[in-house]
Amino acid sequence: MFLQLQHHFFSHFLRPLRGGAGAVRTGKSTVRSGEQRRAIWLGVTNRHGEFEWKDPKSEEEVVFVTYVDQEGGKHKIRGKVGDNVLYLAHRYGISMEGACEASLACTTCHVYVQPSLLDKLPTATDKEEDLLDLAPFLKENSRLGCQIILTKELDGIELTLPKATRNFYVDGHKPKPH
Ligand code: FES
Repeated sequence: MFLQLQHHFFSHFLRPLRGGAGAVRTGKSTVRSGEQRRAIWLGVTNRHGEFEWKDPKSEEEVVFVTYVDQEGGKHKIRGKVGDNVLYLAHRYGISMEGACEASLACTTCHVYVQPSLLDKLPTATDKEEDLLDLAPFLKENSRLGCQIILTKELDGIELTLPKATRNFYVDGHKPKPH
């Protein structure tokens, strides 16, 4: 009963605040149809991290990301355009789990996005929103890290890991970074 109420609360109150499906969004983010966005996203996230192990080819490609870990420690990482922030975290030993390997079947890549850059991200898909509704310590600026792909607009972004995550689908499994 409590879980049902909790789900109801997040779906109806926090989701619109986070800019989820059906929310009115402002700002300069590119507007694409849901299907276009999904197609682009799937293409990018199905790479399993090889791309993130490559260094930027030029300074124009560089995108800095600061991960804030569960203890508040800050880790400034030199990423590049096109990097998936989950796999980039794995490369540098940041403890963002990513149990389902970016297949949108868990919430272990949950992060809080720097609020001032939140509207630079494409709107979350319905599937991402559904999973976020199940994430512990959900906030207005919550997103799934495996759905965040770096662009120049995100340069300097700060991503904060929640105190804990929960894996609803493969409990206990701790994947090793590639
Ligand atoms: S790694 Fe499972 S949804 Fe992101």
